[in-house]
Amino acid sequence: MTWDTRIADARAARDASARRRVRRIVTRRDGMRCEVDGRELLNFCSNDYLGLSQHPQVIAAWRDASSQGVGSTASALVCGHYAVHDALEREMADWLETPRALLFGSGFVANLAVLQALLREGDTCLQDRLNHASLIDAAKLSGATLRRYPHVDAEGAARQLHNAAMHRTPAGDSASRGRDAPTPGLSLIATDGVFSMDGDIAPLRELATLAHANDALLYVDDAHGIGVLGAHGRGSIADAGLCTRDVPLQLATLGKALGTYGAIVAGDADLIGHLAETARGHVYSTALPPALAAASLAAVRIARDADDRREHLRTLIARFREHALRTGLELLSSTTPIQAVMALDDRRALAMSRALENDGLWVSAIRPPTVPEGRARLRVTLTALHRDADVDRLVDALAHARDISCKVPA
Ligand SMILES: Cc1ncc(COP(=O)(O)O)c(C=O)c1O
Repeated sequence: MTWDTRIADARAARDASARRRVRRIVTRRDGMRCEVDGRELLNFCSNDYLGLSQHPQVIAAWRDASSQGVGSTASALVCGHYAVHDALEREMADWLETPRALLFGSGFVANLAVLQALLREGDTCLQDRLNHASLIDAAKLSGATLRRYPHVDAEGAARQLHNAAMHRTPAGDSASRGRDAPTPGLSLIATDGVFSMDGDIAPLRELATLAHANDALLYVDDAHGIGVLGAHGRGSIADAGLCTRDVPLQLATLGKALGTYGAIVAGDADLIGHLAETARGHVYSTALPPALAAASLAAVRIARDADDRREHLRTLIARFREHALRTGLELLSSTTPIQAVMALDDRRALAMSRALENDGLWVSAIRPPTVPEGRARLRVTLTALHRDADVDRLVDALAHARDISCKVPA
């Protein structure tokens, strides 16, 4: 095999299974209206849940701060950590009611860096089967044993934890194992707070209890919960009535409800201190542009106070679900802005997405490997910038798209 044949074979396999992926070019954007490849579409697939990415105060903060230069010029530990980065970390820690917070270049990098810094060979990393790809990759890179439990199944997680302990600890009590027996490894449970493709919420209370009872560390990736759920938008951990004692580490991305780019890991002061000195994605990567931190700081201040936006979003979600279910669309169970309209078959999902585009709406088709085989879907996302009439138009267009896609051979 040559490189040419490997790449050509992989492309042919994607073609044969309707899994080619293309990037669309956005040439203009005004709220949820955008011009895509020259055509105006109403966007129902962005993660800008609170509509902050074009907020005038966020843009002004970016513009003002960028007058002092664009790049941070180095990693945080060299000379790239500015006052505005520090202010953003403090603001996030204050908002999320955690002792400390640490900035990363992106959520993907943060997940890789956190698990690599904490886990080592002999440890166990338990993960929900539908966790984000970055968490799965992170565990594989860390050298720990990855064990995946069934989706949102805390009892399944408990069984896996039990199995891991049976495999790890040699039979007999510690005295009979002798002084030279290997030290049993540590366990970490990692879960998305809100699942990125299904929109449902992890059983955080049960997982926290399980972690506590087994001296395991619970890490919650709340990329899609921050800004949206819980009091003052503090996310799925606050929504579950939990705090840093229960969830010592959490990830908040800045590129979704906060509308900018980057990520924060927040939690226990000792853990964050350890990450600040050892997490490779923090130590060996250029710090975020200060202007981006300034824009994010402005966005966080707005998000903390954005109950009106959250309330409007909740109303839209309820409206969408009620109308869509009445129309007979197959939805996954979700109370968040992520609403999965199931097509199951890849070609049907593509046909539905194309039909929606013909009706002026942008909803991308999500196919394996992003979702499991036979679980292709349209991932609808609602934002605070949508109006009731937009949602009604979406449901009508989805019903029409479903009818058209029924004629597509599987
Ligand atoms: C659950 C989850 N975690 C992490 C990430 C990665 O975050 P970022 O886009 O900041 O790299 C994403 C992004 O899609 C996500 O959905």
